Amino acid sequence: METGVAETFRNGIVLITGSTGFLGKILTEKLLRSCTVKNIVVLVRRKKELNASQRVAKIYQQTLFDRIRHEKPDFIKSIKIIEGNLEESSLGLSLNDHDWMIENVNFVFHCAATIKFNETLELASKINIQGTEHLLALASKMKNLKGFVHVSTAYSHCPRKEIKEEYYTVPVTVTELKNMLVDNVPTPEIIEDWPNTYTFTKAVAENMILTNENRLPISIFRPSIIGCTKSEPEPGWLENMNGPTGLISGVMVGFLRTAPNIGSNITDIIPADYTVNALISVMWDTVNRHKQWNGVNKVPKIYNYVSCVESPLTWGRYIREMHDQYYVAPPLQSMWYGFYILYTNFMVGSILRFFLHRIPGAFMDLMLILCGKSPKMLRMYAKTESMVDLLYEFSVNQWKFDNKNTRQLWLSLSKDDRNMFQFSLKSFDWKSYIESYYHGIRKHILHEDLSNVEEALWKNKKLLRLHQLCVVLVIYITFNLCWMFMNYLF
Ligand SMILES: NC(=O)c1ccc[n+]([C@@H]2O[C@H](COP(=O)([O-])OP(=O)(O)OC[C@H]3O[C@@H](n4cnc5c(N)ncnc54)[C@H](OP(=O)(O)O)[C@@H]3O)[C@@H](O)[C@H]2O)c1
Repeated sequence: METGVAETFRNGIVLITGSTGFLGKILTEKLLRSCTVKNIVVLVRRKKELNASQRVAKIYQQTLFDRIRHEKPDFIKSIKIIEGNLEESSLGLSLNDHDWMIENVNFVFHCAATIKFNETLELASKINIQGTEHLLALASKMKNLKGFVHVSTAYSHCPRKEIKEEYYTVPVTVTELKNMLVDNVPTPEIIEDWPNTYTFTKAVAENMILTNENRLPISIFRPSIIGCTKSEPEPGWLENMNGPTGLISGVMVGFLRTAPNIGSNITDIIPADYTVNALISVMWDTVNRHKQWNGVNKVPKIYNYVSCVESPLTWGRYIREMHDQYYVAPPLQSMWYGFYILYTNFMVGSILRFFLHRIPGAFMDLMLILCGKSPKMLRMYAKTESMVDLLYEFSVNQWKFDNKNTRQLWLSLSKDDRNMFQFSLKSFDWKSYIESYYHGIRKHILHEDLSNVEEALWKNKKLLRLHQLCVVLVIYITFNLCWMFMNYLF
């Protein structure tokens, strides 16, 4: 017997954009495993030498799909692949695919986006705004559309300090933005207080949905920072180095040694599987709401999905708990003992980066050149430091979020739905989550399993001794230099 939420999708045809991305893959897996959909239609672009079908075939071989492969071995038969690209007009669809979607699709989850903070405004607008515009146009022609959920971000209006589940004004309309891009207006003048093109284009897309004249059954879902899975389909699944994952991975392998001191600030991480459960529940709510409204066009509802309201987590605790796991199972491929020095002042940060990143990086590059290999360490440090700088805004600032709609949605679920689509973050167990997170990074990012822990601990002990020796040497040299300087002065 299916739960109310799952029942909504029975025999339905679900279109997912961004199904090759982090969130889209988990969403596809969960829908296939927990609901009896007729088809999941994935809109995928061709990339490099691979067409959409070849890309998708590779994705479903990933371990993320092991559980569904076991539970529903034929799951691939329910997937229909459609080649398309958000950047192209009419989404780059063939006439056949376009017509098929209009006739058949019932639900649309719009997850695709460029999430690069430093994307050019032109490309970010093309994908995040115009891509959404084209999809809305297609959806408005769909004959049997029951619901459309647009995935935005909790930080779309990050220049504000308080973010409710509301629409806020943006400096430009879509048409004005298009004209400004044609006139080559400099990006900072267009995005004004927004720290990057990603959040800016997401904000403009939200307002485009608000002012869209088509009477679509639509909602906006705004998640904060999506971390690894809590438990489904397996604990600790993740696949990219975005955000906090990249920082922790860098420290774990002894590569990143200094970072801004943000210990007491809140980091709004949310588990990926809970995020997908909330997203599916938002679709259920959207479909039901629209049925009650009988097609009357009302303002699309917004759902903020954040952890800070019910279970706030500080960066300090996140890093501390990660470190506790590091002592138990350090990675074997560490290049140095994992340590970090935090700074609060940019000038101090630059000095620390010079001594802890640039000098060792230059030394290692020299070694690589002497061994006949190409240098890469200084390049990697420059890339990592610019990533840390891009994240800075989101690490040092804090927002007051309201998530009333999301909490009400949770309360409206039946007991069975709550078990099947768990997403409440009330009294969330961060300790066990961070433990899974650490092991997820070790397994899926560093590709190490627990069989090497003994060897890794042994290596880590040696790295610690080497690290301590270097610290003593640095103190000794500094002391001697000071002593010589004093003697010179007096
Ligand atoms: N990750 C987070 O922490 C986070 C937080 C808040 C909100 N979100 C939102 O959640 C959604 C999914 O994020 P994610 O983390 O899964 O990102 P992701 O891993 O980078 O995935 C992005 C997806 O969008 C697709 N895409 C990008 N440009 C496209 C185009 N021109 N045509 C067709 N598909 C295109 C990508 O396809 P390719 O494989 O072809 O590149 C990929 O499937 C986004 O809307 C994002 O804004 C994410």
